[in-house]
Amino acid sequence: MKKISVLGSTGSIGTSALDVITHLNNFKVIGLSANKNKSLLKKQAKKFKPEITAVGRSGLKNISLISKADVVLISVVGAAGLIPLVNAIKLKKKIALANKEAIVIAGDLIAELLKKYPAKIIPVDSEHSAIFQCIDGKNPKEISKIILTASGGPFRNYSKKDLSEVKVKDVLKHPTWKMGRKITVDSATMINKGFEVIEAHYLFGIPYEKIEIVIHPQSIVHSAVEFVDGSIISQMSRTDMRIAIQYALTYPERKISTVKKLDLPSLGKLEFFNFSTGNFPCFELALTSARIGGTMPAVLNAANEVAVKKFLEGKIRFLQIPKFIEKAMKKHRVKKNPDLEDILDADFETRKFVEEMK
Ligand SMILES: NC(=O)c1ccc[n+]([C@@H]2O[C@H](COP(=O)([O-])OP(=O)(O)OC[C@H]3O[C@@H](n4cnc5c(N)ncnc54)[C@H](OP(=O)(O)O)[C@@H]3O)[C@@H](O)[C@H]2O)c1
Repeated sequence: MKKISVLGSTGSIGTSALDVITHLNNFKVIGLSANKNKSLLKKQAKKFKPEITAVGRSGLKNISLISKADVVLISVVGAAGLIPLVNAIKLKKKIALANKEAIVIAGDLIAELLKKYPAKIIPVDSEHSAIFQCIDGKNPKEISKIILTASGGPFRNYSKKDLSEVKVKDVLKHPTWKMGRKITVDSATMINKGFEVIEAHYLFGIPYEKIEIVIHPQSIVHSAVEFVDGSIISQMSRTDMRIAIQYALTYPERKISTVKKLDLPSLGKLEFFNFSTGNFPCFELALTSARIGGTMPAVLNAANEVAVKKFLEGKIRFLQIPKFIEKAMKKHRVKKNPDLEDILDADFETRKFVEEMK
């Protein structure tokens, strides 16, 4: 039995992961964590009998959540994922990583740590799991580009005027995936796709100009890799995160899963379109922050987290999200080559600034 900790066990990924762990029947859950949902955490603790449970951001600093595990699944949402990721790398763990914000805000720092400590990150994000599977064992020099697919979210064909009128309930209706609230809003603004470009850049060491976004409304092809000879290898499956979670836990092996198999003829057709960023300024802001580098991606992320929370609380409109992020980025004085403290400072200052914005 391998020992596993699930950080963010009460969330969309966390609960699916516990389903997978129950099905696999070869992991002992030794740690669980949540933010506020103590009643679900208690239920999970009753079933899995972990040695450690932790709540809140400070709970994630409990080092034994990580040190006692062989595998750590980081499925907390937002910048709260950064400290556990850093700790898990320093403790040389196998890390199944769903949290993308940590890589976005501290990509260079994480890349440096991975050179120093022999930890292994296996992506859980469906696109990155797909890319990981497509390039596994291949010579990186043979890759000509990564094709990151995007469903386009619920507002793919909306005009700017339509977007100005969307409500929280419209945003929370993702066409193909059922996910936590924050990532669902991020998918509607398309900042999520910007995050994923940054995540792919760091996880696979691929330059930004070799990462292409293609709209694929059916979300069956989770991403693809084009090789120098013109071959494209893709990974396809149902829109069920349990496949990517399970692969991250069993890698390099594959095990039978509980997810229904794809029946290609019943799909009929798969479509692919060019992606135009026109109505999605959040996507551009994400890439701009990556180009600027230093502490700027931490500012982008913190501003987005606060703006999304305000939107979900009905305090701001959908199109104010990019405005808030832009203002925070304009105000920020970038620090190059930031250490962890610089990143956490930028995160803290930005949250304070955006909290006060109207
Ligand atoms: N959902 C998906 O299908 C999907 C796909 C790809 C990638 N991801 C990524 O995976 C991560 C998790 O997404 P999700 O959709 O599962 O989110 P979610 O449903 O909102 O769950 C988030 C989890 O993190 C905990 N949490 C939230 N804020 C925290 C804090 N400040 N300190 C400690 N714990 C905190 C939550 O606890 P409470 O329940 O107590 O609030 C919950 O357990 C995100 O980074 C997302 O981008 C998700």
